[in-house]
Amino acid sequence: MRFAVLVSGHGSNLFALLEAEARGALAPAEIAVVLSNRPDAPALDRAQKFAKPTVIVDHRDYAGRDDFEAAMLAALDPYRVEAVVLAGFMRILETRFVSAFPNRIINTHPALLPSFPGLDAPAQAIEYGVKQSGCSVHFVDLGVDTGPIIAQVAVPVLDDDDAGSLHERIKAREHELLPEVVQLLAAGRLQCVGRRVCHLPAPHVPAHNANENAKP
Ligand code: GAR
Repeated sequence: MRFAVLVSGHGSNLFALLEAEARGALAPAEIAVVLSNRPDAPALDRAQKFAKPTVIVDHRDYAGRDDFEAAMLAALDPYRVEAVVLAGFMRILETRFVSAFPNRIINTHPALLPSFPGLDAPAQAIEYGVKQSGCSVHFVDLGVDTGPIIAQVAVPVLDDDDAGSLHERIKAREHELLPEVVQLLAAGRLQCVGRRVCHLPAPHVPAHNANENAKP
């Protein structure tokens, strides 16, 4: 399954995806292209180091979201993308883009949704005083971080945390979780039942195949 990764910033989650792909842990997912809405995003350098095609669609060049989304779709078209990962992409997506990839857009968010959606989630968690935060990977719908949750990992909030230190610890878990979910999606192992997302077991490998693989 051919993915576009959409980024706006540092690209540490993109890097985790690229590394996972390089060690064979993402298959059958394949990163076909990286799209940034910011021409100066450090994430673009990371993509280029892995020899991935990059495209820039700067939202400031468009009068409204619909034009911006049409431009993104046009930019992705040559790469025959089948699914999209939002990896620190800091623009809200609307109908034109979301309907182009039904149940095929996922986002990583640095909080345990539905708590603390939107911007600055780690700062929201610190401000509220929660003892556990974490990360969520979810399908994207037309709300802000409201789509069906695919996977979550909890991260403790320490007494001396600030938003930065908490976000760094959350990111470390995102870097593990996001590639796992991309692999599951590409392998057809995510099934939506209403808002609940079930993780289907890996296909059974027949014993005689396993024996053949074991031969010298
Ligand atoms: C990640 O923590 C991601 O969850 C968050 O931005 C960070 C991007 O880091 N996304 C959001 O807050 C979206 N609401 P990165 O550029 O180093 O991958």
